[in-house]
Amino acid sequence: MRVVDIIQKKRDQSVLSQEEINFLIDGYTDGSIPDYQMSAFLMSVFFNDMTDEEITYLTMAMSQSGDMIDLSEIEGIKVDKHSTGGVGDTTTLVLAPLVASVGAAVAKMSGRGLGHTGGTIDKLEAIPGFQVEIPNDEFIKLVNESHVAVTGQSGDLAPADKKIYALRDVTATVDSIPLIASSIMSKKIASGADAIVLDVTTGDGAFMKNLADAERLAHTMVRIGKLANRQTMAIISDMSQPLGNAIGNANEIKEAIDALKGDGPADLMEMVYVLGSQMVVLAKKADSLEEARKMLEESIASGQALDKFKEMIRNQGGDDSVVDDPSKLPQPAYLIEVPAKRSGVISKIVADQVGVAAMLLGAGRRTKEDPIDYAVGLYLNKKVGDAVTEGESLVTIQSNREDVADVIEVLYNNITISEQGEEPTLIHEIITE
Ligand code: URA
Ligand code: CA
Repeated sequence: MRVVDIIQKKRDQSVLSQEEINFLIDGYTDGSIPDYQMSAFLMSVFFNDMTDEEITYLTMAMSQSGDMIDLSEIEGIKVDKHSTGGVGDTTTLVLAPLVASVGAAVAKMSGRGLGHTGGTIDKLEAIPGFQVEIPNDEFIKLVNESHVAVTGQSGDLAPADKKIYALRDVTATVDSIPLIASSIMSKKIASGADAIVLDVTTGDGAFMKNLADAERLAHTMVRIGKLANRQTMAIISDMSQPLGNAIGNANEIKEAIDALKGDGPADLMEMVYVLGSQMVVLAKKADSLEEARKMLEESIASGQALDKFKEMIRNQGGDDSVVDDPSKLPQPAYLIEVPAKRSGVISKIVADQVGVAAMLLGAGRRTKEDPIDYAVGLYLNKKVGDAVTEGESLVTIQSNREDVADVIEVLYNNITISEQGEEPTLIHEIITE
């Protein structure tokens, strides 16, 4: 087999075989196929697309390029949840203990944040003592005993994807649906879950800027998941504005605690119930979505969900007293209000730019090596559709520096007050086929 023939086939819009795709991915992973040939291949995929079968072969080849995590020692159906990216997305922090509290096994491997998006692992590290690096056997033991553990991505997960993603970044081939779908699903499949719930976000803060692209990506990933023998479903959710009110790390832990008490922001609570119900049904702990939602609501009302969060924090070495006393979380030196310049209705809060504003404060990283300041972030006092009077605070800046003129400028440029504005639809669609 010759790489040039495979590239030519894709260039001429033919369908590749599993052998050809395996040859390409194996050769690129071990270094025998050079970047220039892979670049040409990626660009031909960008223009000519792939069939579901081709995308599935690509996904499986990439997932098998490194460690395949074996979670078979964990009893029951392991359900994973993945978001394609958001700003202030506190859902995983709430879902992990909540879904575990009704008996589903949550073995969650999460990532760190980069740029305008935050990462669940960073947020959990805002809890004093919390350990995210746990050995595999300990991880499995915790999920078996406690139904929940959250860890950073361990081992050598889908190295082919790592290498290809870096190449896509510099060859203008990132925004290709077959390449995004296979990239995400290869990591999900390698991390060992039996069932996968995908939150495909759409809007300014997301990878997919419009609904049609988000739909295509969601349908594609659901079909790949099924072909790869993983129960998979997706929701398409709005990420035109940040989710909930808090954007940061310690402040999002506080927001998650409120949500687990049933007292979180309305949009966050709705996301939690919709995604959580799907997870509980996939884990076969309820027969219907209605039953699942009721179980979750009852767990919150009885305090069971909050107790599970405390248990999860203790299990991973953290100080669980932060749940009853969130003032023990890292606190900022300054709280600075950003007053509305006029009266009206909030019509737009540009999610990714607000994420950038939080990053400027130190809540996120510009490069992988940047440190995080857990104490800082933003609190949105107003969301799209809310009325506001001149002088009222739009945002509270939680900062460790006194001069935040740069942050205020970004916020004013990206929060629009008009005569009218409407709360966006939060969940556009639920896709199971
Ligand atoms: N996230 C991924 O992991 N891969 C992509 O290609 C895009 C988003
Ligand atoms: Ca939030």
